[in-house]
Amino acid sequence: MAWTKVLGADALTPGAREVVKVGDRKILLLNHENQLYAVDNTCPHLKMPLTKGKIEDGAIVCSFHRSAFDLKNGEVKTWCPFPPVVGKLLSMVSAEKTLPVYPLRVEEGSIFIDVPSA
Ligand code: FES
Repeated sequence: MAWTKVLGADALTPGAREVVKVGDRKILLLNHENQLYAVDNTCPHLKMPLTKGKIEDGAIVCSFHRSAFDLKNGEVKTWCPFPPVVGKLLSMVSAEKTLPVYPLRVEEGSIFIDVPSA
């Protein structure tokens, strides 16, 4: 594990999002209701980007099959509900997987995240 400085804290105003690259990972930083989060920018279902995913009830919702992942711990709240029928089939051929989330801290005006080494 290594704390990595990724962004100035003032760049992440409420509602803002930024994708940063740390090693091979693309990590989505977001400010939701004045709380900062760092999650993988790759949906664990079919590796699609989460960049534009809506936030609903504290979870980020994948734009493709609408799986929802808790921003705090990455746990699955909903798995592939969309589109109806096809989504169900997709969910049956791929087991639920949590979304990796990363510890984050702000220090001296910068955001640091703790990313495991590859
Ligand atoms: S790619 Fe995200 S739920 Fe299918």
